[in-house]
Amino acid sequence: MSTTDTNCPRPITIDTLKSRKSEGTKIVALTAYDYTFARLFDSKVDILLVGDSLGMVVQGNPNTLSVTLDEMIYHSQAVARGALKSHIVADMPFLSYQVSAEKALENAGALLARGKAHAVKVEGGVAIAATVRRMVEIGIPVMGHIGLTPQSIHQLGGFKIQGKSQEQQDSLFKDALAIEAAGAYAIVLESLPSFFAKQITSQLKIPTIGIGAGPDCDGQILVSYDLLGMNPEFRPRFIKNYAPLASVIQQAVSEYAQEVQSGAFPKPENSF
Ligand code: KIV
Repeated sequence: MSTTDTNCPRPITIDTLKSRKSEGTKIVALTAYDYTFARLFDSKVDILLVGDSLGMVVQGNPNTLSVTLDEMIYHSQAVARGALKSHIVADMPFLSYQVSAEKALENAGALLARGKAHAVKVEGGVAIAATVRRMVEIGIPVMGHIGLTPQSIHQLGGFKIQGKSQEQQDSLFKDALAIEAAGAYAIVLESLPSFFAKQITSQLKIPTIGIGAGPDCDGQILVSYDLLGMNPEFRPRFIKNYAPLASVIQQAVSEYAQEVQSGAFPKPENSF
């Protein structure tokens, strides 16, 4: 079955995703934050990530740090209502898993039980590996995320490429191995030099999903608003706008405004 086969909405599981690596079939992942977009994306992708990037693209904050667990549950529920086939991953927000393993288990459980996600994603490596292990042991699938980890934005000093020095590479490599050993079923590699993401991908048994990490990861993820060109001013190198939706939307709204002002809308056929 191809990822674009709309006649067969068999849900994608963590086993499907793990086998993609051995088959050499790329994993297609995209963020979604609501029901309508989830419905539109569902038959075309493997993974819908309810990313805490919603703090930026939906809520308009400068970073992801203020997103709450309740907000993640709310958005995850909406995405789950719109998705029949995709594997739904919900981001664990800042401080919902770093404080203690107990808190992490409860919060991850809430994202699955109330948020209807199939898995959670956490940022970090060696420092959170024991917590990842505890979550996996009680049956919660965990996706890792290393490299540019936006919840550590103040420590990293900005949204910038990671793993440039040998020292950083050694440390990130240990992180990747620790997350795999803890039982994660996949890992996001964000903003890493392509050659280094390729090395990590070839050393890990679990699939890597890249964003700004070159073509050799086992899959790719983008923030859907970036792919759709919703914010034309935001054009970092790793993004590709596949549709100029900002101008399409603005054009539609401007026509609507003109027609309301001129009286051309609503017409008799739009009225009762
Ligand atoms: O929050 C998010 O959207 C993410 C992706 C960019 C991987 O973590």
